[in-house]
Amino acid sequence: MAGNFEADLVFAGGEGGYLPSADVWIVIDVLRATTVMTRWFELGGTELYPVKSPDLARELVKELRGRGSSPLLMGEVNGIPPEGFDMGNSPLDLNYDVIREHYCGVMSTTNGTGALLEAESTGCPVIAACFRNYSACLDHALTVGTRVGILCSGRKHRPSWEDTLCAGAVIEDMTRRGEVMMSDSARMALTLWQNSGNDTESCVRLSNHAQYLTQIGYSDDISFACEIDSSTVVPMLAENEERTILRAVSGSARPYQREGATVKKADPFEELLAYTRKKAN
Ligand code: MLT
Repeated sequence: MAGNFEADLVFAGGEGGYLPSADVWIVIDVLRATTVMTRWFELGGTELYPVKSPDLARELVKELRGRGSSPLLMGEVNGIPPEGFDMGNSPLDLNYDVIREHYCGVMSTTNGTGALLEAESTGCPVIAACFRNYSACLDHALTVGTRVGILCSGRKHRPSWEDTLCAGAVIEDMTRRGEVMMSDSARMALTLWQNSGNDTESCVRLSNHAQYLTQIGYSDDISFACEIDSSTVVPMLAENEERTILRAVSGSARPYQREGATVKKADPFEELLAYTRKKAN
């Protein structure tokens, strides 16, 4: 259904703390927080607590364990797992068995979890998106409102190449659905995406963070993060909860894949739809 939309974009979390008015916020951290969050729910995870720092994450895990829960403690500082964490921040470290043991997770990362909490402070609904699920996230965001704010996590409060590219893909998708009034920052991201060529992974690999992750042994995470629209999961901050918690919007999660299943691709119909949409422009 065509509509009239607004798109605004903030290039990096914590960028001076100002977030413009919007009906809904989409937070992007392609490498790797929102990609990990999406994978968590794809595999059947039910709850994920984003936390600002490793110490706060450890405290929350202790509290949850005291209540009989067995959360997985995950995340990174400078790309590697902090002391005492169960795992780092690689989506490829998640699998069916890990989820089956935990279902609930506590996550702290350098930029992505902080950006989610920053977006939450606006009081608007917040969705976690990445290249893998951005169309599904936009579908849901547009059921919430027509004024979409996009918060790129960035890297240490500075813009990141890959998050800006993904934001551009979201905005391009919006333009296929109706008229979009864009902020200058949104238009910059759209222009970057539309001039990035057809090989998203090669383009993303140019980024500072992708090169750093490759240096420390996480090159495969970049390939995984660039599997465009391979997921229909929509992680969203739950409202009216005692703590900030992510859940998958009901009906958005694909049946999770059992370990060893051939890795997902979007449904053939979805792929054809995405292809025809792209061709139409
Ligand atoms: C971030 O918060 O920017 C990422 O999670 C960093 C990473 O996973 O390397």
